[in-house]
Amino acid sequence: MISSKDQGCITLTSTIKLNFRGSPGLLLVGRSGMGKTQLATYISLKFMSQMHGGLLIVDNKRSDLSTLSKYLNNGEQVVATTVGQTAKLLRNMVDNMNNRASHFRGNFGQDWLDYNLRPYLILIDEVAALIAEANAKEKNELMSLLRQLILKGRQAGIFVILSAQRLEATVIDRSLTLQLGNRIIMGNADSETYRMVFPGIDAKELPRIPNKAGYGLIFMDGQDSLLPIPFVAPDMSGVSVPKVISRLEQEFNYANFANESSYWQ
Ligand SMILES: Nc1ncnc2c1ncn2[C@@H]1O[C@H](COP(=O)(O)OP(=O)(O)OP(=O)(O)O)[C@@H](O)[C@H]1O
Ligand SMILES: [Mg+2]
Repeated sequence: MISSKDQGCITLTSTIKLNFRGSPGLLLVGRSGMGKTQLATYISLKFMSQMHGGLLIVDNKRSDLSTLSKYLNNGEQVVATTVGQTAKLLRNMVDNMNNRASHFRGNFGQDWLDYNLRPYLILIDEVAALIAEANAKEKNELMSLLRQLILKGRQAGIFVILSAQRLEATVIDRSLTLQLGNRIIMGNADSETYRMVFPGIDAKELPRIPNKAGYGLIFMDGQDSLLPIPFVAPDMSGVSVPKVISRLEQEFNYANFANESSYWQ
């Protein structure tokens, strides 16, 4: 079993822990090539290995991420590359989330860890690319599903990583992205992006970081520091992601979590 102190957390670097308990997920912003997809991949692997969580991927850019469907259990169901597949995946997860809530209704304030539920992470890489492919009706549905997951998923143990090159208020509601209590900007960004991701913080006070892939600023709700913290994302160039995922999927044991076979889809 996982030691109780670290339940719901992953180690991002030797000094930074990313806490999923208490936040619906992570917002990950940065210009092209600054290392968003790599960092999201790293966090996903840690989520699987340290929290024994399940991974779902939305990759409309059809990058390397989408090829992980070959290595994840039920790969076809947990990886989406089109608007239609994404809507289906998110609808399923909203249903799962609501079923969890009705099966595990108990003491006020209890969450997935108290009920020994397996946590799940939905990695949405380039949310703007996804929205750009959707027509107005589809966009409304995707936003409504995302909103439900971000507002209610935390307690049910269903988390979201949203990555984007820029956050346009016209693409995705700011009130929604700011619900994500963990927020990262990779590399240097324009002042509008700083304002969107780290509201209320004077950009002049931000710690300076190299404008290079892998360098970022992180702000986590509940952290001691009032300012975002500089960090260097782990270099994944020596890691075979398919191999690690295959091994983690093989080693995973459902018996360690509550049985949800009566409703999980
Ligand atoms: N932590 C890191 N350390 C060293 N190099 C890195 C790191 N992260 C990313 N890189 C380098 O930067 C390249 C781009 O990274 P990545 O694809 O994750 O960027 P991205 O922000 O997702 O870009 P895009 O917006 O175009 O999808 C990688 O191929 C790798 O060479
Ligand atoms: Mg990318």
